Amino acid sequence: MKIKIAEDIASLNKAFTEWMKTILSQQEEITLALSGGSTPKSLFDYWAKHHATDIDWEKIKFFWSDERCVPPTDNESNYKMAKEHLFDRIAIPEEHIFRIYGENDPEKEAKRYAEVLKREIKTVNGIPSFDILMLGMGEDGHTASIFPLQIHLWDSEELCIVGTHPITGQKRISLSGKTINAAQNVAILVAGEAKADKVKEIIESKETAQKRYPAAKVSPTSGNLVWFMDREAAKKLAAE
Ligand code: 6PG
Repeated sequence: MKIKIAEDIASLNKAFTEWMKTILSQQEEITLALSGGSTPKSLFDYWAKHHATDIDWEKIKFFWSDERCVPPTDNESNYKMAKEHLFDRIAIPEEHIFRIYGENDPEKEAKRYAEVLKREIKTVNGIPSFDILMLGMGEDGHTASIFPLQIHLWDSEELCIVGTHPITGQKRISLSGKTINAAQNVAILVAGEAKADKVKEIIESKETAQKRYPAAKVSPTSGNLVWFMDREAAKKLAAE
């Protein structure tokens, strides 16, 4: 596991993008799972503004690590956010975008999306293995849409699960731990002081944290893991 600490969110976006470009340069095509929430929004804006032409976007097939069970027109939709901040601004072939149909029946959609992954993504040990998997972390230590109260879902035998937001009750489709840890390159992007306590707990007391927080269970079987964080999120880490 590597930790890259950036001065601020702009530098975090830059560091992640340079990391992604290195991986892109080594392969003909890339499967990339986007995370949702607000952190990736600024990354997508950064890409649209500074990298519309120097990244071969046509090499990338876009997926999601999770999606809220809402229509694609709903402001809660991770697809809607990516469309407005990235796809509408950088020419990306429609056939390279594999959205999760959050508006469908959640259990049925989790199964359908798992079939899409099996069809579109190369497998490692029989499990679809993303070339790049983006994740975020909530203040409660959730990642993708696996929340601490439902940490058992991490160990599902399924490739995709249906999670439930602990406060709103919103259903969400999410990759399971099995699929997350099968990825070749996993990046967890974390920004802001509100996450500093969890970052410290997960980085410095991983064993106990793994019992409580899904984000602590991200540990690629054979792939790489990089935590990209800004100074605020890293502020409680013991000095190197
Ligand atoms: C989602 C995400 C979720 C997110 C964290 C952090 O659909 O919301 O995938 O896991 O990454 O909640 O979100 P922020 O970046 O908004 O803090």
